[in-house]
Amino acid sequence: MAERPWGFWTESKLDMLSAYLPAFTTASKKAPSTVYLDLFAGQAKNVSRDTGRPIQGSLLRALQTKPPFTVVRGFELQHKRAQSLQEAFRAEFPNRDVAVHAGDVHGALPSALAALAAYRSSPTFAFIDPDGVEARWELLETLAAHKAPQSTKVELFLLLTSPQIVRVVNNSLDPHDLEHAKKKITELFGSTEWQPILDGRQSGMLDAERTRDELTNLMRWRLEKTLGYRFTHTLRLTNVSGAPLYGMIFATDHPVGDKIMKSVYQKAAERFPEMRREARARRRDRKELESGFNPLFTHAELAQDAPLGAHESYQHAPPVPPYGQTVPDPGSLLPTRVECRDGTGCGASPSTGTR
Ligand SMILES: C[S@@+](CC[C@H](N)C(=O)[O-])C[C@H]1O[C@@H](n2cnc3c(N)ncnc32)[C@H](O)[C@@H]1O
Repeated sequence: MAERPWGFWTESKLDMLSAYLPAFTTASKKAPSTVYLDLFAGQAKNVSRDTGRPIQGSLLRALQTKPPFTVVRGFELQHKRAQSLQEAFRAEFPNRDVAVHAGDVHGALPSALAALAAYRSSPTFAFIDPDGVEARWELLETLAAHKAPQSTKVELFLLLTSPQIVRVVNNSLDPHDLEHAKKKITELFGSTEWQPILDGRQSGMLDAERTRDELTNLMRWRLEKTLGYRFTHTLRLTNVSGAPLYGMIFATDHPVGDKIMKSVYQKAAERFPEMRREARARRRDRKELESGFNPLFTHAELAQDAPLGAHESYQHAPPVPPYGQTVPDPGSLLPTRVECRDGTGCGASPSTGTR
């Protein structure tokens, strides 16, 4: 099957995964077994849109992790993609306990986890990497409820496409499609708490960036307050022109996981501007080549020697009550409304430095 082309930001996301997984299995060395779950597993062959080089996808990266995971499970909607992964790991990792469930992960996850009941005390990591808004909250609930009562919950590494959410629900849709779009976003968050945020955007109270930050904050808030995760983080990834694409959200109960992912995010935030600059340079080179121009030095070569631009960093801050949420006022019998967080009596600042 054809290779799937990815932008440099996908490599950055997968590099974070590759950096974290060995730290996870190393930190879990004393446990008799470890489990990796890939809820949107993709396909075997992927390629960089910028360099043309092959990119290894998440499931195969998980299988290469050292120390190795005991159990690896993938879920992929498209049967051909699932089959391509099965063929790849059978060839490369014939003796591993690995399987890919073909079909909708929402249907497959509960029974797949039931079959892993023997591993309910094992450190477990789940990568949730949809293309858009197709991961429903019920997946996170199922994962959070999977582990035995005395153990830490399944760690989550989740892609949230906040910019896409704003595009999915838009008032140019006819009423039927708008209702459908709203239902989708409610399923994504497992709640309608996103609605005041989009209302704030429509009324002009929130600009585009604040809206995206509020949506990411809402997801982190719910992971901590509704599912009970102790720590959450987020890092925003952008495309070649710097436009935000998605946030990578991490949730864990374990202080060690929290510490390691902080450092992974910090390194990714530092490396990201360089990757973006190189991708831009390669894009310019391609355009020049197509137009017949043959320069002495390519932009990619020049970009490697140029000094780095603005330093980006990652700073953790906990999520704050969602925008527009009603919270009980301890001094009053009536609930008070948290207005907004835009300087008009609205509370805390965004949750990370790089968003
Ligand atoms: C961004 S890609 C995943 C990339 C993969 N993690 C990798 O590193 O190569 C998202 C994948 O999720 C699959 N997908 C979409 N909806 C799904 C669903 N409901 N259940 C399972 N897989 C789904 C898509 O077919 C697509 O292959």
